[in-house]
Amino acid sequence: MSAKRPPRRSTKSYGKLDKDGFIHRSWMKSQGFPEHVFDGRPVIGICNTWSELTPCNSGLRELAEYVKRGVWEAGGLPVEFPAMSLGETQMRPTAMLFRNLLAMEVEESIRGNPIDGVVLLGGCDKTTPGQLMGAASVNLPTIVVSSGPMLNGKFQGRDIGSGTDVWKFSDAVRTGQMSPEDFIAAEGGMSRSRGSCMTMGTASTVASLTEAMGLSFPYNATIPAVDARRQVLAHMTGRRIVELVEADVRLADILTLEALENAIVVNAAVGGSTNAVVHLLAIAGRLGLNLTLDDFDRLSRDVPLLVDLMPSGRFLMEDFHYAGGLPALMARMAPKLHGKQMTVSGKTQEAQFTGAPCYNDEVIRPMSNPVVERSGTWVVRGNLCPRGAIFKPSAASPHLLEHVGRAVVFENIEDYKARIDDPDLDVDETSVLVLKGCGPKGYPGMPEVGNMALPKKLLNKGVTDMLRLSDARMSGTAFGSVILHVAPESSAGGPLAAIRDGDVIEFSASARTLNVQLSERELAERLNEWQEQQPPPTYTRGYAKLYVDTVLQADQGVDLDFLVGASGDRVDRESH
Ligand code: FES
Repeated sequence: MSAKRPPRRSTKSYGKLDKDGFIHRSWMKSQGFPEHVFDGRPVIGICNTWSELTPCNSGLRELAEYVKRGVWEAGGLPVEFPAMSLGETQMRPTAMLFRNLLAMEVEESIRGNPIDGVVLLGGCDKTTPGQLMGAASVNLPTIVVSSGPMLNGKFQGRDIGSGTDVWKFSDAVRTGQMSPEDFIAAEGGMSRSRGSCMTMGTASTVASLTEAMGLSFPYNATIPAVDARRQVLAHMTGRRIVELVEADVRLADILTLEALENAIVVNAAVGGSTNAVVHLLAIAGRLGLNLTLDDFDRLSRDVPLLVDLMPSGRFLMEDFHYAGGLPALMARMAPKLHGKQMTVSGKTQEAQFTGAPCYNDEVIRPMSNPVVERSGTWVVRGNLCPRGAIFKPSAASPHLLEHVGRAVVFENIEDYKARIDDPDLDVDETSVLVLKGCGPKGYPGMPEVGNMALPKKLLNKGVTDMLRLSDARMSGTAFGSVILHVAPESSAGGPLAAIRDGDVIEFSASARTLNVQLSERELAERLNEWQEQQPPPTYTRGYAKLYVDTVLQADQGVDLDFLVGASGDRVDRESH
């Protein structure tokens, strides 16, 4: 151990010539580490969410090796450790149920182990937010390397997008416009390389916002998963994290309120996922930063959609990268950003993006020629959602932005699935589809079912969009006129619980209002009735009980109440 450096966290374990030091070093030597690597050099944790059950993260095992190369090269000691992996397409009832469990695991793994800095390897939707939440509650020097997007999907001579085309193919096969054989063949064409969804879904959104917050190197969001430049980025990240430890630059030095505001503005410009709302709110909560639901509307209402990517537009992440990626975009919207925000590279955002070239004005539009003028996340309120609900205008149909219609109510997802294609369902294109029981507590886990498919009989008539309303989330790859994240949720006794078939619902996007034509008294009476009919709790043990008992509502980020805030990196007691 060097006497010149202040003691590091790792030195408290590896730098002692006593029984505890012996135990910490000796068992590590069983992996072939020689004596000299315990000389006080920075120990870098590589927190890896690789899993074959998270296909989007399947390249991370290899990427970890490149991070290690960089750490060794810079004089650090890399140590890789696993964290719970959340495969969005595999986990039931929904990966979101486990985001907070991943965050707990990451937090305790970082704090409990003798590491001085950490590189987070994530990608699939919930993995990076869960890792950032956990890392924020410890606050070591931290950099993110994302798994990177898949190559563009290809099918029958055209590009197809992850998720976005699933909804279209699914409707087409339901109505007989696509054969089952083509439907199966499209699966292989859509996911033809490893990596995360290559639309501007939640994974690409979170990776973009991570870059916009300065928590990764430039281009981390867009370099395709299988492009060798991602390996270079991982290598350089390994080098850089050692320098961050030496300089003691912590996560909270980078992840400030201004960084979160940059993320919200960039989210609007890329047409990012509505899921960014619950993730950014939860991350802010860990850091004690005062970010609110209304900040999303305030900061994004004047931001046009500049990146023409599915689901809001035409192109895919590969195209975005070749057009110039996030730096080119941020250069074009510089006046709307906090340019002085510091990044993990050691440069400010504006030092990084100033002069970044754009190679394709169709993919990354100039401010003078946006894809659509109105983007962002709009926050609506009213007697149906006193604590707010959200709406993504860039994914919606203009004719539904101001709408009055009669509710067609589904009490839960099973009720919806059982009746949506019933020929006798009393519904037309002016109706408002209302889905209950899909909030954080109700499902549990707030699944991505808010963009519920339209009734088959209306699809057959050529109807392509209807106003839909729920306490659920929506996949970042999805589209439609969908009001999401209604808070409080129906299962927590929110007004949504009181809505019945035929109630008249009024939505005004311009006024940011969502109301049901019921008197206060009628609503209160119905909610009392609802309360009296509640069955005993379904979840009586394990993580699901902990989650249901303590989860916060969508307007607070859906974190567990006792996880909000931070405990720092200090551990006072030895293990033996
Ligand atoms: Fe994993 Fe989309 S399902 S990134």
